Amino acid sequence: MKLDIEHVLFWMDAIRNSQDRDRTLESFWKGQIRSKEWLIKNLEYFIHPAVNKNMNFPLTVDIHGGWLGVLSSMLFQSNIPIKSIRSIDIDPSCETTANTMNKIEEMAGRFKAIAADMCSVASDADIIINTSCEHITQEQYDHWLSIQNKNSLLVLQGNNYNIPEHIRISNSIEEFQKQCRLTNLLFAAELELPLYKRFMVIGRV
Ligand SMILES: C[S@@+](CC[C@H](N)C(=O)[O-])C[C@H]1O[C@@H](n2cnc3c(N)ncnc32)[C@H](O)[C@@H]1O
Repeated sequence: MKLDIEHVLFWMDAIRNSQDRDRTLESFWKGQIRSKEWLIKNLEYFIHPAVNKNMNFPLTVDIHGGWLGVLSSMLFQSNIPIKSIRSIDIDPSCETTANTMNKIEEMAGRFKAIAADMCSVASDADIIINTSCEHITQEQYDHWLSIQNKNSLLVLQGNNYNIPEHIRISNSIEEFQKQCRLTNLLFAAELELPLYKRFMVIGRV
């Protein structure tokens, strides 16, 4: 995908102004960026009018566990017509960096970073994304899923990267699919990355 220089300049501001620059740079590691590029490429197919006749464009998007807002910025720069994005993260220190990362859209009222536990946020956006599935327990996930809008398109990512902060990894795409419990599954695939596999499912509750 192509990136726009004005957006990249705000990415640099976000890194420069971060309290922990190394941590912020982790969101630009190859595995992170490749996973988000993969998400956007597949989402483009599922929102195409020929595939999905019920979408109202431009789209609203909620990203749960949105971290520092890199996925939001990549979505704004993609071919997907986006009205607005809310990026929800439990860590309040993500808010300022995510708002800088998406400064152009934040100033236009199209982006908002929200500090909240995703398990308390019932989204009704057209697209609900959760790329932090490995950061919540199955119990938390089940509750989270139960409060999401039944008509929204869900895009979920997890992985098999076994590190302490990942409390619910999946060993295969089949296991991830089971953990996600989508009744209307449209897509399930894995992406081989240098250190781990990323899993993704797209569907509805
Ligand atoms: C390391 S980051 C993102 C990893 C993910 N693979 C990605 O690229 O989007 C995980 C994020 O999930 C957030 N998080 C963990 N538990 C959460 C919860 N209950 N609600 C919202 N955000 C949560 C963390 O604060 C962190 O910013």
